[in-house]
Amino acid sequence: MKIPTLLAALLTIWISVAEAGLQMDLLDIDGLNTFKAKYLDNPGVASSAVEAIRRKAKQALANPNPYSVINSSVIPPNKDLHEFYSWAPYWWPNCKGIKNVQDEQTDCPYEQKDGQYVPDIGKISDPQDASSMTTDVTTMALAYALSGDDNLAKKTAHLLDTWFLNNKTFMKPELFFGQVIRGKGRNEGRPEGILDLRSFVYVPPVVALLEKSSVGTSLTKGLKAWFSDYSTWLLTSDLGKEEEAAANNHGSFHIAQTATYLHFADRDDEARKLISSYVNGIYKGQINKDGEQPLEAVRTKPFHYQCFNLVALVYIARLSDKLNGTNVWEAKTDQGATIKTAIDFLVPITEGFLADLKNGKKAKEPPDTLTTPLYAARDHYGDPDGRYTALLNKLIGITTGPSEFWTVWNPQALPGLNGTSKAGDDDNSGFDGYDGSGDGWNPYGNSTVSEHSNSGVDNSARVYNRLWVVVMVTVALLI
Ligand SMILES: *[C@@H]1O[C@H](CO)[C@@H](O)[C@H](O)[C@H]1NC(C)=O
Ligand SMILES: *[C@@H]1O[C@H](CO)[C@@H](O)[C@H](O)[C@H]1NC(C)=O
Ligand SMILES: *[C@@H]1O[C@H](CO)[C@@H](O)[C@H](O)[C@H]1NC(C)=O
Ligand SMILES: *[C@@H]1O[C@H](CO)[C@@H](O)[C@H](O)[C@H]1NC(C)=O
Ligand SMILES: *[C@@H]1O[C@H](CO)[C@@H](O)[C@H](O)[C@H]1NC(C)=O
Repeated sequence: MKIPTLLAALLTIWISVAEAGLQMDLLDIDGLNTFKAKYLDNPGVASSAVEAIRRKAKQALANPNPYSVINSSVIPPNKDLHEFYSWAPYWWPNCKGIKNVQDEQTDCPYEQKDGQYVPDIGKISDPQDASSMTTDVTTMALAYALSGDDNLAKKTAHLLDTWFLNNKTFMKPELFFGQVIRGKGRNEGRPEGILDLRSFVYVPPVVALLEKSSVGTSLTKGLKAWFSDYSTWLLTSDLGKEEEAAANNHGSFHIAQTATYLHFADRDDEARKLISSYVNGIYKGQINKDGEQPLEAVRTKPFHYQCFNLVALVYIARLSDKLNGTNVWEAKTDQGATIKTAIDFLVPITEGFLADLKNGKKAKEPPDTLTTPLYAARDHYGDPDGRYTALLNKLIGITTGPSEFWTVWNPQALPGLNGTSKAGDDDNSGFDGYDGSGDGWNPYGNSTVSEHSNSGVDNSARVYNRLWVVVMVTVALLI
């Protein structure tokens, strides 16, 4: 294999295992407009993001099949195809000692196997389709905003209409069957399933971007109603309430999502109230005096989960700013810590991981997980000694393409960012943990999908070990 081909292959693998994709982030339309006005002709470090957006949007535009929950070949427990349906990925049938098994899903008990994907997980398509749908509409809407090509806006509207509104193909605004545990006498959804649809936070800004196109506001009313109903479900259903009460990142992401949808549905008072009750509730126990996040630190990948919870925290803080609500940035936990304390706890750890990589050693966990929380924190708290900027420069140097999507709507982060990645390095812009590459979502464990479960189960070790190998080989080839 020629070196460039090998390198490209390695980079592709790297990206498909790095939890980098389109991470949940507050897509700020003002920021995007600033980017367009000031940087579009000369995007600098963001050029790989712009190229990736264009390329991915082109693919999405060429795909004739809109995604819908009704296309799933697996029928939800209540037989209603309009329900979103997914399975708990680590739960396996155990048919030992059971006679006359006709269907293991109904005849055998299911039990958890830490970090191991149940072999038939790929049969269920709703999670993949939801991820592909949001990735496609987000990239096409961004590409529309950057290029003004109305075809992109029309196609975006078609995908949104098919998924959410069309009376044949719509998804119901509820999540009773997320991460269902199958098995004899079971088949019920779990609160954890709610985390899986967090990519929907990109829908409101997408709708706003379309309003300048020929699509106008034709979908706005319908989508606002959908998300109003969904936020009501998130606030009032047993599963929604249980997820909201989860003390760790699950609770944080519930708040981030629900407040986004309430705001979109013109229910700002409720959004502000929700954020304020979060800040006075579970948030109080989420950061220790020294900045460690105790509920995430007990996980098998403590760095990853602390960064992950920070993604939700900075998201909530920025949303709350937009709503003129509680100042989440300065809110103190029971031990007197703030988001900044948590960031400052992780900065030296991240620097250590980078130093390990530089010295040819193995980094315990991929360091770039801190990137999005770090720039948001720098934007708010400032950076008098330049430490955040220096770290961001290093982090952005080891990521590529879609992981920099955020630079397009966060141009305030651009000055001082010196990226080394080049356009064309990748072809993956799946949402967050999902691999949205041309081959589609691969939930078998060869991809990046992570359960982020409450249970302490963690599949990332294997993924990260492979990541490390790829990083090292790539670095070796680059030097
Ligand atoms: C899903 O079903 C709709 C309606 O039947 C169809 O138009 C669309 O092509 C299907 N999408 C996929 C990805 O198969
Ligand atoms: C679905 O929508 C079409 C037009 O958009 C309408 O003609 C039809 O009556 C609707 N069907 C139902 C069951 O509401
Ligand atoms: C927040 O306050 C600003 C300035 O007073 C105002 O323009 C904006 O509409 C407010 N936003 C919300 C969501 O209330
Ligand atoms: C970015 O790179 C340029 C050119 O290499 C350099 O002059 C500048 O100091 C760098 N900025 C930072 C913040 O590292
Ligand atoms: C996952 O990878 C393993 C080995 O790397 C391979 O044997 C298996 O077929 C792959 N599974 C899928 C679904 O690609």
